[in-house]
Amino acid sequence: MNGPDAPRPLTMVGLREDAVVTVADGVLTITHPFGRTAVRGLPPGVQTVLGELPGTLAGEDELAGRVLAAGGTSRDVAVLYLALAKLAPVLVHAVEPLLRVVPIARDAVFHQPALAPDDTVRLSRFALLRRSDDGLILESPLSRHVVTLTEEAVPLIAALGRPVMVKQAPEVLGHLVAAGLARTDDTEERDPALRAWDFHDLLFHARSRAGRHDRPFGATFRFLSELPPEPVVKRPPDGPAVELYRPSLEEAAAADPPFTTVLETRRSVREYAGPPTLRQLGELLYRAARVRKVVPPAPGMPYEASSRPYPGGGAVYELELYLTVARCEGLAAGVYHYDPLGHRLHALPARPEDAQGMLSVARLATGGLAEPDVLITMTSRFQRMSWKYSGLAYGATLKNVGALYQTLYLVATAMGLSPCGLGSGDADLAARTFGLDWERESSVGDFLIGGPPRAAASGS
Ligand SMILES: Cc1cc2nc3c(=O)[nH]c(=O)nc-3n(C[C@H](O)[C@H](O)[C@H](O)COP(=O)(O)O)c2cc1C
Repeated sequence: MNGPDAPRPLTMVGLREDAVVTVADGVLTITHPFGRTAVRGLPPGVQTVLGELPGTLAGEDELAGRVLAAGGTSRDVAVLYLALAKLAPVLVHAVEPLLRVVPIARDAVFHQPALAPDDTVRLSRFALLRRSDDGLILESPLSRHVVTLTEEAVPLIAALGRPVMVKQAPEVLGHLVAAGLARTDDTEERDPALRAWDFHDLLFHARSRAGRHDRPFGATFRFLSELPPEPVVKRPPDGPAVELYRPSLEEAAAADPPFTTVLETRRSVREYAGPPTLRQLGELLYRAARVRKVVPPAPGMPYEASSRPYPGGGAVYELELYLTVARCEGLAAGVYHYDPLGHRLHALPARPEDAQGMLSVARLATGGLAEPDVLITMTSRFQRMSWKYSGLAYGATLKNVGALYQTLYLVATAMGLSPCGLGSGDADLAARTFGLDWERESSVGDFLIGGPPRAAASGS
């Protein structure tokens, strides 16, 4: 905070380092990661001053002074300020030597509110302080700017956990409020739309779709020249396997109810007339989740992909299936990994109390209604997705979970089994049960399969 003898910090503007500026025929054109901004009809003095901006920081008054010194009029100075407003997607606002507010989105707007000295400012509850490649940064999913900080700014940021009076640091606080990283009011606590967001959900939402950040995004293949992709199918564990039944698809198609009947009768069923059989489990996994074929690398798709009954983003198929079996006719209770290529189950050396814990968590997720027969837990081999995708890898995995849920729902319904998707599971417990490294592969979905629905068995 500004002590009585401390020099006042300087407020300055500059351009994003990656902005490319050309000036010709009174038109200033700036090319930047979000597109191109053109400012027309600039008087010569304004054109010169803005053309010199890349790579430097200058006070807005200083820029105005330069326009006047070059023979410009007060009208030209007004044009300068209008031009700076048009440059919002690339205009960096600095409080030297403490922080820089850098725009990270096409629609970035930096609006300095009129703050009174006794107004108080507090950090947004969505603000996040972390280390990035550029050093310490402050960011928020509500902001279209990111703030890079020097060490000298940290005590002030730390103080903003509680309200701080504007007069204690007017320049810094004005900039943080203008960037949406700090607030003068309690809107975040009162606004129904903002109250509804958990901190982590809003950050995930903002960063896993395009438009509100400047991070690499989409199929960037960032590890292409550094690391091999994770294999198309996880290597099955050593040890004996349970060969699964492979149904005839022609016979299944003939026996199935019509598609619309399956769709319209599909329900989440949590109470069963009896357990499924091993043969039914084999048919379900074959029809919903097996590898139909492995697809070799090709131009534009430099990794082994596969084809399966459920759709998967990029044909990457990062999801693995683990079965925690309480009751299944013909199959011993225990924990298994499904090999979708060999269509086999491999028993895992899980501790019985962990398996029991998995089933209890699933039962609780149904409000205690289901006594789980078979719990299918979906894990994600995250690196397989992030080898191809930047920014959206985790979001895409969750979408893939949804696609697999629906496929399991439909096949189970067609077969007269009881399906029920679950919205929560214990990722730490799952990693321990399946013997996984949580950071490498952990649970992202949980699905219950029971035998025939109880109501159907009683004829109602
Ligand atoms: C992603 C997802 C999560 C779900 N989570 C649960 C859950 O945790 N517990 C539960 O009993 N049902 C869960 N369900 C089932 C829904 O409650 C059910 O689909 C919804 O009530 C509509 O009923 P219906 O499936 O019978 O048509 C989930 C379904 C989906 C698709």
